[in-house]
Amino acid sequence: MNKNLKKLVVSTVAVLMFSANVYGYTDDYAHRSNMSFIEKIGVMLGFNDSKNESASHDFSMYDDVYYYEADNLSRYTKFSAKNPDIAPEDVIWLVNANVDRKFYDKSQKIKDTDEDILLVNKYNYLPNNYEPENLVEISSGKFATDKTAKAFMEMQENAKSEGIEINLISAYRSIDYQKDLYKKYVKKDGKELADTYSARAGYSEHHTGRALDIASTDMSIENFGSTEASRWVNENAWKYGFIVRYTAENSYITGYKAEPWHITYVGTDIAERMKKYDIGSLEEYFVKYIDHNPYGYSA
Ligand code: DAL
Ligand code: ZN
Repeated sequence: MNKNLKKLVVSTVAVLMFSANVYGYTDDYAHRSNMSFIEKIGVMLGFNDSKNESASHDFSMYDDVYYYEADNLSRYTKFSAKNPDIAPEDVIWLVNANVDRKFYDKSQKIKDTDEDILLVNKYNYLPNNYEPENLVEISSGKFATDKTAKAFMEMQENAKSEGIEINLISAYRSIDYQKDLYKKYVKKDGKELADTYSARAGYSEHHTGRALDIASTDMSIENFGSTEASRWVNENAWKYGFIVRYTAENSYITGYKAEPWHITYVGTDIAERMKKYDIGSLEEYFVKYIDHNPYGYSA
């Protein structure tokens, strides 16, 4: 990871550590400062602030970067002016991934929901009538796509043979179910805080049937990050085609606090490539490997 991008990530993580633990928080930074988590990240990324906007790079010179998008030229310039320490190559992918926009701002409906890989996040949502195909039951009342289920069960079995217990807590969730869940969290914690850990209806990866929440022996997702099972998952999930989707390091782009328990099936090719090239988020992967072709020919 580029040094300056790392700085941005480190400062985001600092804000996250400063803000409340979402489950059972007592002293939330957002509440103390009257500034929401999302706004706080936004300011770090250059939204809303009044920094000197004198451009330091001429982005039209960077059109040989393979993921450069001419339509985004003015956004690159503006974002870079507010964030002069970020290298141009990083500015380009960050802006392509919409990091210069507030979460949910100008969000797009996902057009092709039949794709093998879907990017569902605060900028891309699923249509209301979306239903994943090939849902199968993994355990009582918990469904996932057939590929996700197969990969999960294989992973669970291999983990078990190494003395690691992985239990499934939540899998496919319908858009209606998520609507109620999000509403419940908003009622409990308020919208700003709920948005840091719960997806709005249509914006949850759980609708795809490819995202799973897992726990170890105590069946608690909140404790999962401190278990041996979590360590095992971080090290081995890619072999089965899963990624740990929300990390502290990628919160600045996902808008969620770290969820070590939430894994997403992306297939073994993508999971392996993300690991090999140290791609820290599905958002970055999409810009660099799905929306654009790094190999310079059409596959
Ligand atoms: N907790 C994740 C972000 C979801 O609600 O989908
Ligand atoms: Zn989840």
